[in-house]
Amino acid sequence: MIDALLPTPGNDLSDDDLLALYAPADRSVPRLRANFVASVDGSATASGLSGALGGPADKRVFDLLRQLCDVVVVAAGTIRSEGYGAMRLPASAEQWRRAQELAPQPAFAIVTGRLDLDPSSDVFAKAPVRPLVLTAASADADRRAALAEVADVVDCGDDTVEPRRLVEVLVARGLTQIHCEGGPSLLGALIESDVLDALCLTISPALEGGSGPRITHRAAGAAPIDLRAMTLDHVLNADGMLLTQYSRRR
Ligand SMILES: NC(=O)c1ccc[n+]([C@@H]2O[C@H](COP(=O)([O-])OP(=O)(O)OC[C@H]3O[C@@H](n4cnc5c(N)ncnc54)[C@H](OP(=O)(O)O)[C@@H]3O)[C@@H](O)[C@H]2O)c1
Repeated sequence: MIDALLPTPGNDLSDDDLLALYAPADRSVPRLRANFVASVDGSATASGLSGALGGPADKRVFDLLRQLCDVVVVAAGTIRSEGYGAMRLPASAEQWRRAQELAPQPAFAIVTGRLDLDPSSDVFAKAPVRPLVLTAASADADRRAALAEVADVVDCGDDTVEPRRLVEVLVARGLTQIHCEGGPSLLGALIESDVLDALCLTISPALEGGSGPRITHRAAGAAPIDLRAMTLDHVLNADGMLLTQYSRRR
């Protein structure tokens, strides 16, 4: 069957509507969800950053997905290239989370093998909750010691952060609702290990032209993997920007 999704009925969804739509069905069940934006022709960036692909609707969902999770996970490449500062939800989101009996702020976890992060940067210095640094046992000892002053540094593998170990480590801390904001290399690893449960993908109504990366990346020469089947949960239309969610069908 081929069915039309558009034009949609004239529902102007409120934040409460969106929170209900994106809320986990059962917070006791561990779930790893990622949120990405891409152009119509499949680029994850415009002029090197993802920001220009988004817009107010995408930003609204981006913020609400943070509000719903227990931990936001971001890989070091995205922290460095997007210039991440400390993650702090606004007071209204904190209030909502308290009412749901959640911690006022989600945890923040950075994935890095090399630990090439400045311990004095705002990501750490202004964090409302002591961040987590998820790394590998082989990481440089001096950098580990410096980051351990400002974050909980946890090994999730010998030479790289192994996605299954990452999930185990976070769930063991009670952080069952795991939300990944990027970037493509981390997403490639999550897909390869088949730990990704859901992908929120915003399709930006623009053509980038071919110089940008895809939302998912694996090293050149990496062995092909089987297709990961997904189920479409929803498509929202915000003036031609499509906000989708797909869940992994296992
Ligand atoms: N369209 C979107 O929604 C979106 C979202 C996020 C980012 N982006 C874009 O993506 C680009 C960055 O791409 P990227 O591939 O560099 O992204 P990335 O996945 O954010 O960063 C790669 C780095 O993260 C660390 N890392 C990732 N997976 C790891 C693993 N399994 N084990 C150990 N370390 C791991 C490594 O850091 P170390 O080098 O420190 O070891 C690695 O060099 C930027 O242009 C950004 O704007 C787009």
